[in-house]
Amino acid sequence: MPNEKLTELREKTEKVMLGGGQKAIDRQHENGKQTARERILMLLDEKSFVEIDAFVEHRCVNFGMEKKSAPGEGVVAGYGTIDGRLVYIYAQDFTVIGGSLGEMHAAKIAKAQEMAIKVGAPIIGINDSGGARIQEGVDALSGYGKIFFNNTMASGVIPQISVILGPCAGGAVYSPALTDFTFMVQNISKMFITGPDVIKTVTGEVVSGEKLGGAMTHNSISGVAHFVDDTEEECMDHIRKLISFLPQNNLETAPVREVCDDLNRTDEILNDIIPDNPNKAYDMKEVIYSLADNKEFLEYQQYYAMNIITGFMRLNGRSVGVIASQPKVLAGCLDINASDKAARFIRTCDAYNIPLLTLMDVPGFLPGTHQEYGGIIRHGAKMLYAYSEATVPKVTVITRKAYGGSYIAMCNKELGADMVLAWPTAEIAVMGPDGAANIIFKKEISAAEDKNAKRMEKIEEYRDTVANPYTAAAKGYVDAVIEPAETRKRIISSFDMLTGKRVHRPEKKHGNIPL
Ligand code: HXC
Repeated sequence: MPNEKLTELREKTEKVMLGGGQKAIDRQHENGKQTARERILMLLDEKSFVEIDAFVEHRCVNFGMEKKSAPGEGVVAGYGTIDGRLVYIYAQDFTVIGGSLGEMHAAKIAKAQEMAIKVGAPIIGINDSGGARIQEGVDALSGYGKIFFNNTMASGVIPQISVILGPCAGGAVYSPALTDFTFMVQNISKMFITGPDVIKTVTGEVVSGEKLGGAMTHNSISGVAHFVDDTEEECMDHIRKLISFLPQNNLETAPVREVCDDLNRTDEILNDIIPDNPNKAYDMKEVIYSLADNKEFLEYQQYYAMNIITGFMRLNGRSVGVIASQPKVLAGCLDINASDKAARFIRTCDAYNIPLLTLMDVPGFLPGTHQEYGGIIRHGAKMLYAYSEATVPKVTVITRKAYGGSYIAMCNKELGADMVLAWPTAEIAVMGPDGAANIIFKKEISAAEDKNAKRMEKIEEYRDTVANPYTAAAKGYVDAVIEPAETRKRIISSFDMLTGKRVHRPEKKHGNIPL
């Protein structure tokens, strides 16, 4: 081959590698951010990244753009591996015209999405962009449309992960919103439909970018994001960890890890974790950590709707999705946000063949006008729908309260729990003994001389008769009443037994989940 051909290739490649040039790279670093290429290299296995479309160029001739070069078109795309498993990846390059998205930039992302779907591999999108490339107008908007369409086609087929490492504004936020998991980093990530300046002009409200759309805002208030980290490095480790719990696509199961934790491990602490006073809280996370292989748990939406806990653990080396009441927050009540969080997580697990473990200690749905006006009926229904629809193995453990509609919403037998295990402390009833006694013994209580004593007596009577696991076990609603200490081995045995579960459902175009 003539030498000049190789030289030409090397020079062109070198130019693309420099993105927007050293000055812009320095500026990126000064802003505490890594470049697109550095981010990809940090995330993927060493030397595994293979770039595609490095020489794509924009075709815009508006506003002098024909004279402006945009190396890589402002986005680096390709594939590589994480722990030896194939992933597709793209990272917007802020050093090139602010990572703004034009027609060809979008085409690179769309191609990566289509390849990922074709080969059945997860796709990770790193967002750091000024949004639609203003010079390109409708071509840029059309590019976003294509990406959103592909996000929707990929949904439930391959895991899609969004990482926000810079601005992600306007309609651009809807690609992350359509994906399965969104990561943000403190002080680096910003997501909003309209920024602080527009808000000030339109409503007069003054708010900083961080407060409006920073990592904690979306992890704790809006629920738009699922994970938060302090640094980009920690974020990349976090993504690698998440990937380890996920399958490549909807036709596979997550990789099975070799287990170095005793499958029959018992934990006496669990026999004493439920307080004598039913109104006292305990930390359900202690139960979760106790049950998991090697006490490892990857929490999903850790700071959002903390009255319910969601996340991934392994049991006997297999990935399991956990949905657990948290008695420490709002007594573990279900409310609008908890219902949304749980329903979304359940559907994510079901789509990717990850079995579901539910830990139930739920006193009911949160009362109040705020909840009713906000549509708790519609939101709570999402949990009923998501659990009923899920065909993966489902195991439910009732640790204490299981009252009313919330008992059903946390996956009782009729919603399709394949195995329902109850601790001796379980109270399964239409409502709590206090409320129930006040209603059904109202006349007796008000006729009594010592009303309070009578009320207490009737509450105990109700608790003894109904609020225990044996009434439900006698009718087969509960499959077994177990010693709390033995929960780990019982759930492992249940999931092992359920490995071959098959479910046939009526054919339909798609269901109509209440939104
Ligand atoms: C074209 C853009 C751009 C854009 C940034 N740049 N955003 N070029 N289209 N959308 C260019 C800048 O002109 C600059 O070019 C370079 O990128 C770096 O930008 P700076 O402004 O110098 O960086 P910084 O100070 O860090 O500010 C970043 C920023 C700001 C906050 C993102 O650039 C900004 O506000 N951009 C516009 C954001 C926006 O309104 N986008 C449209 C959103 S609407 P030079 O040549 O000077 O280096 C939207 C609709 C999508 O996206 C709809 C989808 C359905």
